[in-house]
Amino acid sequence: MKSMFGLETFIKINKCLFPVAGYGTRFLPATKAIPKEMLPILTKPLIQYGVEEAMSAGMTTMAMVTSKYKQAIKNHFEPHSDIEASIKDTAKESLLDEVNHASSVCNFTYIEQDKMLGLGHAIYTGKPLIGNEPFAVILPDDLCTSVSESVLKQMTKLYQQHPNCCIVAIEEVPMTEVDKYGVIDGELLEGSSNAYRVNSMVEKPSPENAPTNLAIIGRYILTPEIFDVLEKTPADKNGEIQITDALMILSKQGKVIAYKFDGERFDCGSVKGFVAATNAFAKKLL
Ligand code: G1P
Repeated sequence: MKSMFGLETFIKINKCLFPVAGYGTRFLPATKAIPKEMLPILTKPLIQYGVEEAMSAGMTTMAMVTSKYKQAIKNHFEPHSDIEASIKDTAKESLLDEVNHASSVCNFTYIEQDKMLGLGHAIYTGKPLIGNEPFAVILPDDLCTSVSESVLKQMTKLYQQHPNCCIVAIEEVPMTEVDKYGVIDGELLEGSSNAYRVNSMVEKPSPENAPTNLAIIGRYILTPEIFDVLEKTPADKNGEIQITDALMILSKQGKVIAYKFDGERFDCGSVKGFVAATNAFAKKLL
């Protein structure tokens, strides 16, 4: 964005919201006592991958919308002096370096979501942690990798050109799978091959009713205007408030951009995707 003096100004996004209150019932019994976000791909829990992606995009406040059953997430980002003492001066000493680095440079804030009323409700619950500024949202179930910049970093760059818009990450999915996602319809921006001006969107349509196969995945940049819209967004037929429905309202005002990111995404909210991520990471590292 250009400032009044014609200089390029960079709008820094400081906060990333993580909606992590859900029960993770698809992974029972593993998730009975352990939050699903603490399940690891190799040795690192999903939530830590998410936090590291937010850090790579310059964010330093990690705003967790959590529940009373998810204490392990908070513990994960706090020092553990007994374990640290036990690995000191051993070959394992560096194994906590990344998480300790995240803990020391980021501010972790928490708020409890007492009722599970949909992703829109979860994001609205985080309003006191965000305030009046643009912010990112990561759904840690969607694990994203890329060869160059992280997906969220790519999105923060695009946001600079559209500071009044919300950005959603999208990917093409088989038409038979559109009913698992928010799906967008839109036009490519002039001169772009990967960014669309969204003109409508629909949450989990049947294949017959889907406008496209461009599915929203768990990365968003939202302007604070979204909170006013969410306040007025009616619940859907299941009693849930959907972020897709709120974004649909902003899309009618031309304020939503969908970005086909450069990278790969694993749906770690499904056993199949979780195994695929594990195999892909193992192939790279082991
Ligand atoms: C949520 C959103 C959906 C989006 C998806 C991405 O659905 O409601 O629009 O496509 O995340 O993972 P959920 O997977 O929580 O049912």
